[in-house]
Parts: sequence; structure tokens; C-alpha cells
Amino acid sequence: MNIDDILMHDETIFKNREAFNPNYVPDNFPHRESQITSLIFSLRPALRGGKPLNTLVLGSPATGKTTAIKKVFQKLEERSDKVACVYVNCQIHTTRFNIFSQIQKKILGYLPPETGIPFSRVYQNIMRHLADEKKALVVALDDVNYLFHSKNANKIFYDILRAHEEFEGVRTGLFAVISDIEFRYLLDKNVDSIFIPQEIVFDPYTQEEMRDILKERVKAGFYPDVISENFLDKIAEYAWSMGDLRAGINLLGLVGNIAEAGASKTITKEHLKTALKNTSSISLKNTIKTLSSDEKRLLQIIMVSGDDDLIAGNLYKLLNKAKTLSYASFDRILNKLEFLRIIDIKFTGKGMKGNSRVIILRFDTKEIEKCMDNI
Ligand SMILES: Nc1ncnc2c1ncn2[C@@H]1O[C@H](COP(=O)(O)OP(=O)(O)OP(=O)(O)O)[C@@H](O)[C@H]1O
Ligand SMILES: [Mg+2]
Repeated sequence: MNIDDILMHDETIFKNREAFNPNYVPDNFPHRESQITSLIFSLRPALRGGKPLNTLVLGSPATGKTTAIKKVFQKLEERSDKVACVYVNCQIHTTRFNIFSQIQKKILGYLPPETGIPFSRVYQNIMRHLADEKKALVVALDDVNYLFHSKNANKIFYDILRAHEEFEGVRTGLFAVISDIEFRYLLDKNVDSIFIPQEIVFDPYTQEEMRDILKERVKAGFYPDVISENFLDKIAEYAWSMGDLRAGINLLGLVGNIAEAGASKTITKEHLKTALKNTSSISLKNTIKTLSSDEKRLLQIIMVSGDDDLIAGNLYKLLNKAKTLSYASFDRILNKLEFLRIIDIKFTGKGMKGNSRVIILRFDTKEIEKCMDNI
């Protein structure tokens, strides 16, 4: 290795490491112009004293649905203070109270206390404020299918869309986001006719489009000439074969870390080979690194239990021997671990109201232990 190829300690190949993080919102967002235009079209009436159009956003995973909505919301809020745009991740916030807490936080700037205040008060605070300020409200319920298990969807839709009946002049609209066509049918089953949306479809990207997007990401994340066009082709091919743009973005971040750990100024064939071999365990390690101590504790208890049919209620008892964590907090942590794809949560149809859930680890215990030890 040439001495020039060896990086000094404080040097890095990353111009912006964040560019490979899951919640990074890119400046450039190619190949989604028509969807962005349609989303803006849905919001436009709200700027002119009307209601936002109810909208169903459909498309398979990693087709840019979440990012498009976040970008459009951000743009709108820069332009006008007459529309409150609230983004809610329903994988994490599943109850009526939780979701309206998020709405309150966005509108009033603070969360209501977790206990001791009834839902109706939170609801009134929000709607009164909107009426006083003459603001419209649009709520994006991302991955809305997560509300179907708990049968919360209809109530929440109703709360949002019928607000004008109780609070005169309040103008509200809903964006519902789903990533599986099966959920389209479930949506109709779960939500009455109060939600008649226009649909915006996010088609899968072609291989060329994926390459384009990955190239933009390389520009945003790495210094020039860190990765060759040829390797970029290979990464685009990999993402395409997985049917998942996200896999390509993760691979870019991973291969960058491997190159950097090897003190190299460029990404080589060997780095790419290693990255492809390690994609799952390295991304797991990065995910585990971001967990809070409560989240790690829960994960450890799931691992130690060694139970393939671990029921959520039993897990809570194991976790909460010291009685320090509310069930709501426990539930949120569980949903977050599922959101991060560390565990799966399956509804068994048994238990009280048929709501009993089984927790399944998506990784081998040893693999997780190794990641935890390495941190
Ligand atoms: N057109 C694009 N340009 C740049 N980056 C994109 C584009 N489309 C998607 N991405 C990136 O791909 C990743 C996945 O996008 P996003 O989370 O918006 O997809 P999604 O459709 O919401 O997926 P899911 O259904 O899994 O929630 C993100 O890192 C995002 O920045
Ligand atoms: Mg999404």
C-alpha cells in the first residue's frame, strides 16, 4: 500500500457520514417529481382556506414515500404558517392518546403528560388552538396498517376527519401511507367511509433509477473519487436484485466504514466483498449502538428468556420486576425494536380480546451478543 493511500487518523473518506443513516433526508430527490406534485396538490387547498385532500400513499418499501411526505411538509411549513403538518410513525405510535400527543407536540410545542390527563383534553387543546389560529391540520399516518391490529384506525381517522363537527371552522385532512397492497383492502375493512382518498402511487424504481439515486448519495456522503463507477454499478445491481434501494444505501455506508477502518482513501474490491459478506451483522451492530439503556435491557431479557413463544405480557413481567417502567413505555420500546427490525411481533389471536402477542427475535442470540460486546 502506498503511503499516500494510508489515511492519517483524523482523515476520513466521508464528506457527510449522516448521508447513509436511515432517517437522512436527501436534498436531491430524483424520479419522484410526479408524486411530489400530487402531494403538493393535496395540500394546496389548505393554503387557500380549504381542507387538505385526503390522500392514500401507496408503494412498496423504500420507494420514497416517507421521504417525499417529509420533504413536502417541510417545504409547506417554510412557505406558510397556516397549515400544521404532522408526521406520525404508526409503527411507534399506535394508540389514540399517543398519536394525538404527537399532534399536540407539533402544534403546541410540548407533549402532554403520559398519565393523568384524559384524551378529550388533549383533543380539545389541539382543536381549539387550530380554530383560534385559523390553521388547517394535515396528519400523515405512516405505515398506518400498524393501527389495524389494535382496531384503533377507525377512531383515529374519525377524530381527525370529523373535528369540524365539534370545532367550527377547523379544517383537517389525512395522508395514510401503506407499503403493501394487501393493506389496501384491510384499510377499507378498518376505516368506514369517512376516508375517501385520492391515491398517489410510488412505483418501484428501475435499476437505472436506483443507480442514479445511489450516485447522488455517494456525492452527498463521500469525498470525490472514493468509489469507482464500476463499484457503484455493482451496488446498484445488488440493490436491484434485493428489490430494495435501502439495501444499496446501507451497503454504501458499510463499505465506507470498512474502507475507513482499513485506513484506505478509496473503496476497493476487497472492501466491497467484505461488506457484502457482513451486511446483516454490521447493520445490526449500528442499530444496537443507537438503543437506549431500557431498550437494550428489554432486548437482553428477550435473548436470555430463550423462549420461542414469548408472550408480550410475560415479557413485561420479566422486565418490570423493579416496577419502574409503565406498560405504555414498554409497548413503545417493543414497537421500536420491531420498527428497527430486531424483533417480529406476531398477533396470536388468543388472550384477552385476541390481542396476545408473541415476540420473535429476528437474529441469532449469539450474533446479537457479539454486536453488544463489540460496542
Ligand atoms: N428518489 C429518491 N432520491 C433519493 N433518495 C431516495 C429516493 N427514494 C428513496 N430514497 C431513499 O431511500 C430510503 C428509503 O426511502 P423512504 O424511507 O422514503 O421509503 P418508504 O417508501 O417510506 O419505505 P417503507 O415503505 O419501507 O417505509 C431513504 O434512505 C431515502 O432517503
Ligand atoms: Mg416509510
